Amino acid sequence: MKKLIIRTPSGNSAIYCGAGAFAARAGQLSERRLFVVTDSNVFALYSGVINEYFGSCPVHVMPAGERSKNQRRLFSILADMSKSGVTRSYTLVAMGGGVVGDVAGLAASLYMRGIDLVQIPTTLLAQVDSSVGGKTAIDFNGVKNMIGAFYQPSEVIVDPMFLKTLPAREVRCGLGEIIKYGALDENIYEKLTKNAGRLFEESFAEDITYDCIAHKAAVVRADERDTGGMRKTLNLGHTTGHAFELYYKRRSHGEFVLIGMYYEIYIAAKMGVCDPAYGRSLVGLIKKVLGAVPGYDDAGRAALFAKFDKKNTENSQVSMVVPAAPGRSEELVLPVGEYCALISECAARIKEKEI
Ligand code: NAD
Ligand code: GLY
Repeated sequence: MKKLIIRTPSGNSAIYCGAGAFAARAGQLSERRLFVVTDSNVFALYSGVINEYFGSCPVHVMPAGERSKNQRRLFSILADMSKSGVTRSYTLVAMGGGVVGDVAGLAASLYMRGIDLVQIPTTLLAQVDSSVGGKTAIDFNGVKNMIGAFYQPSEVIVDPMFLKTLPAREVRCGLGEIIKYGALDENIYEKLTKNAGRLFEESFAEDITYDCIAHKAAVVRADERDTGGMRKTLNLGHTTGHAFELYYKRRSHGEFVLIGMYYEIYIAAKMGVCDPAYGRSLVGLIKKVLGAVPGYDDAGRAALFAKFDKKNTENSQVSMVVPAAPGRSEELVLPVGEYCALISECAARIKEKEI
């Protein structure tokens, strides 16, 4: 098990990562007063583990899936905490994927103006990304992550034991964020290209998880509140990914990140920002994980949702972070109309099998 500390102005976060991390830390956790938030799938699989390690503490089980990331669920968790007599001395344990982590993390930040938070991520996506760095949120008014807070977990316990029950589709979602890290970090990119044949292997996930966390930790230390320009790089592929996620809904966040990266690499290559050979290599990784990339008929309309992206400083412009060369990304800002036209063009070329 490896340990890494993220020190930020708002607090420190200790990340325990590797096989045995859960068993090693859960004993200490159980000495505290706990309130556990999880989802229906995780509870069905791990209620025995929760019981064994955390005893009879109150457990809030939310319905699994992105649709729980809303104000009703947030207030239902807060109401349950209040009913259970949770005080400031409690620790909220968010045990699940990114949805549980985001909503429960926001609840921890709000309840009595903030109680201790521990993240136990159980999806690959949550292990490599969402559980680390203190971003919490719910979706609101049709916009992803519109209401939220920066709230650092005191501890994040990343144990690959949870990945054993993860469906292949969810592994693919985690690989979406992992390829994003590959597009930002040369060492991760090299590992991905060298191990392209074993991306879905458990041992590969175990190995690459720490690299992704270490990359994110360095970014969060430098730009915790996403104001210095560095943290927005972690949003590579997400401008289009989030827009498609809001419009099409049918797939999961990680899959839309892969699709968003594909479309944005097309734009970056077309504008001469992304080195063509590097772009092709990233596209190869994306296709290996996702299979065919969809060429949506109405992609231009879906892309309009990028107007709500939090990176934008003007309503009339869309900002996106795109890969340029190994280890180097750039921010592209385009007028909304031009961005939507390029997205439509990319979709049409996919449909015509030209790319
Ligand atoms: P998720 O939380 O919906 O989990 C995906 C599915 O896997 C769910 O059905 C869940 O019940 C199931 N599951 C969880 N653990 C399991 C296990 N061990 N075995 C079997 N099934 C399991 O989705 P996700 O992909 O983990 O997270 C996506 C969310 O994370 C999105 O809402 C996204 O916006 C958010 N996110 C946040 C950040 C951040 O920095 N806060 C970063 C990236 C993504
Ligand atoms: N996943 C984006 C961030 O944490 O900033």
